[in-house]
Amino acid sequence: MDSIRIRGGIPLKGTIPISGAKNAALPLMAATLLSAETLTLRNLPHLVDITTMANLLASHGVALHMNGGAGEGCGGRVLELTTARITDTTAHYDLVRKMRASILVLGPLLAREGRARVSLPGGCAIGARPVDLHLKALEQMGATIAIDGGYVDARVDGRLKGAHLVFPQVTVTGTENLLMAATLADGETIIDNAAREPEVADLAHCLIAMGAEIEGVGTSRLVVRGKDALHAATHAVLPDRIEAGSYAVAAAITRGKVLLEGADATHMAALIKVLTAAGVSVEAREGGLLVDAENRAIRGVDVMTEPHPGFPTDMQAQVMALFATAEGAALMTETIFENRFMHVPELKRMGADINIHNNSAIVRGVSKLSGAPVMATDLRASMSLVLAALAAPGETTIARVYHLDRGYERLEQKLAACGAEIERLRG
Ligand code: EPZ
Repeated sequence: MDSIRIRGGIPLKGTIPISGAKNAALPLMAATLLSAETLTLRNLPHLVDITTMANLLASHGVALHMNGGAGEGCGGRVLELTTARITDTTAHYDLVRKMRASILVLGPLLAREGRARVSLPGGCAIGARPVDLHLKALEQMGATIAIDGGYVDARVDGRLKGAHLVFPQVTVTGTENLLMAATLADGETIIDNAAREPEVADLAHCLIAMGAEIEGVGTSRLVVRGKDALHAATHAVLPDRIEAGSYAVAAAITRGKVLLEGADATHMAALIKVLTAAGVSVEAREGGLLVDAENRAIRGVDVMTEPHPGFPTDMQAQVMALFATAEGAALMTETIFENRFMHVPELKRMGADINIHNNSAIVRGVSKLSGAPVMATDLRASMSLVLAALAAPGETTIARVYHLDRGYERLEQKLAACGAEIERLRG
């Protein structure tokens, strides 16, 4: 297993190109299942999860043609997906276990074919992450759903029926699954308490380009009028607000100055508010976001994670690393997942002063972290350790960095281009 070695204490200076968003690209790829015509996706990031989704879709009979390699700045890759017909409606465990977002094929398969057999994703490091809300909503649209042998077995006679769905809890992929299913349903579907993450809106815009009829994009009430079929479309994946936020913290924690090329500030308001309150200068510029913490005193700010437009749970671990090195204290409360403090013990190995009480952590800033060998546990926790390592004088080695490869394209190259001393050790 590869590891990453960082020699920290160097202020980052320069420009980082922001890639297409992983959490937009995954549902956008699954949308190909809804149409027999070609869906062309641009600005696709080069990530392990994208490859896993491509392999899963190929197992359903999707023809994929990728062109453009990684490393083309903001251009990203172009992927053509064509599902002339679905040859297998089963999403096998050996693929689904690698990426829980595989559940996103359930709605489209059911809507297009009337049946789907998708392995239950199982839990992950940050929580149990059930999919009960996806299943209950599909049943409300007329699906018959059974769980057997670790698989969700879903069928519907004829077409799914439009329904008034009310999610008792905001669920991002739940909203995306049902939004896709509703585009081919018979009649009108209302989705209340829909997730408002920008990636959901990006999917809706793509579905509209494919001929879907959707109102309320970006709000918590989506209204969909089902169609008999969807057609070809081309769509560019929106920039990754979590990647951009992670590198904004990299600039802040090293007291550097970095331009995040292609970042969209309108998707990052809650994070920008916290970073600004902490003393970081964050300015929307032509073509990106300028983050400047040079010679600035950074202080802790209380944070509570919430569904969008609140502070994103996917930025909690990264901002905790920043506050571990800031002045004063910060109370950080995680309301979305039950076990998303896996980075805390590792940060404490580097000298951080953090105490957890239930779903809150009190972070007391220390003047210096120190480099140490640490271990990655999940995607965003891994990035938290990278950020702490960039700030900590001395050498830090991070093991199990395959977690990072799932969500950060060309991480070493992007950071090294801004002066970081970082290298990957092949394991
Ligand atoms: C999406 O996961 C993201 N993944 C996650 O990003 C992100 O952390 C999460 O949304 C919250 O913003 C993708 O978009 C591929 P949820 P998702 O359904 O959809 C509970 C990353 O780091 N819930 O919004 O799986 C659930 O347990 C990843 O890029 C149910 O109880 O999250 C959680 O507590 C990590 N039943 C809460 O709702 C359900 O049926 C929110 O989960 C569904 C969810």
